[in-house]
Amino acid sequence: MNSESLDQFAQGKLDGLAARDLRRTILESHRTDAVHLVRDGREYVSFCCNDYLGLTHHPALKNAAKAAIDEFGAGSGASRLITGNHPWYTRLEEQLASFKGTEAACVFGSGYMANSGIIPALAGPGDMVILDELGHASMHMGARASRAEIAMFRHNDAEDLSRLLETTNNLYGRRLVVTEGVFSMDGDRAPLDKIAAATRKHSAWLMVDDAHGFGVLGDGRGSAFEFDPVPPIELHMGTLSKAAGAYGAFLCASKPVIELIKNRARSLVYTTGLPPSVIAAATAAVELIETDNKLTAKPLEHARAFCARAGLPDAQSPIVPIIIGAESATLETSAKLAEAGFLVTAIRPPTVSVGTSRLRVTFSAEHTKEQVDRLADTIRKLGIVPKIRGAT
Ligand SMILES: Cc1ncc(COP(=O)(O)O)c(C=O)c1O
Repeated sequence: MNSESLDQFAQGKLDGLAARDLRRTILESHRTDAVHLVRDGREYVSFCCNDYLGLTHHPALKNAAKAAIDEFGAGSGASRLITGNHPWYTRLEEQLASFKGTEAACVFGSGYMANSGIIPALAGPGDMVILDELGHASMHMGARASRAEIAMFRHNDAEDLSRLLETTNNLYGRRLVVTEGVFSMDGDRAPLDKIAAATRKHSAWLMVDDAHGFGVLGDGRGSAFEFDPVPPIELHMGTLSKAAGAYGAFLCASKPVIELIKNRARSLVYTTGLPPSVIAAATAAVELIETDNKLTAKPLEHARAFCARAGLPDAQSPIVPIIIGAESATLETSAKLAEAGFLVTAIRPPTVSVGTSRLRVTFSAEHTKEQVDRLADTIRKLGIVPKIRGAT
């Protein structure tokens, strides 16, 4: 019989994490604008938010949110299938479908909820879900919840995916391939043309999570729109919390697929709709993304200028990883940057694999050239060099 109390169990786990430099603390952060934040009375320039376009503090989003509260209240009151489907949902879903060039769209509570609901609605026991090995935790959550067989292909390796599809032909009912457009911790882009070709050749389905490509690549439409022709992708997932500066996520797909998702995705059916203010803000953000190509191009321009100046490999997205390796060394490097006034949080396992702890530097359209140059110069001056070459 286990005589350990729940508190002893929790404390033991925390002590174990601390001993391995893996304990995390949630710190209060007052983001005063898109790139500045105050912690413990000190102001930093943040280079680790996902606010790529600086829209979290944009007046158009804030005003849209305030007006929506006045008109529809602070919360949605129920699941979307009951009474929580306020009018802002329809407007945003139509806007997203038209922007992504699909028949329909469905908005979810968050990216995590989208992935954990979409995958089990499309695959089940007897099917196979095939993930890029560096896929986000939420994809794994969805794959596990589906109770389908799970397989992984080598990161961004379309040939490995092809082999996997070849050897599993006829062994499973449906096969769903899931990858990211831009990888959240490595900043590299998926070869979506090759992945889509392999998937189609073997009659599987393809879902792309473009949490970090939407709003910043392909004139804001996302990673797939960097390719000409745009690769055939059945399921375009993206988030409204990163470049779009609000909260929530979406799936853009055909009408029947979206109807099925609205019927069967448990993370949509069994949860309260997002507050009207959040959807109104996201709608304002998508309007800006659709119309301002200069804005959407800016984060990648900053990332490229930074890499050139800091002597790093060229950036493929606004995310630049500097892989240090050991957890303690990564924490120390992050602390040195903080002393110099820059916030670049250390990313450690299990978010990344053991031995690849890193600084994940991200760029916003709202950073100034002077801030970007100063960060690159500080990194050079401190002698911070990647111990392991990242995917970029
Ligand atoms: C690739 C990817 N998918 C999904 C998510 C989850 O999105 P959200 O923060 O909206 O839950 C994230 C963000 O952490 C992500 O990086």
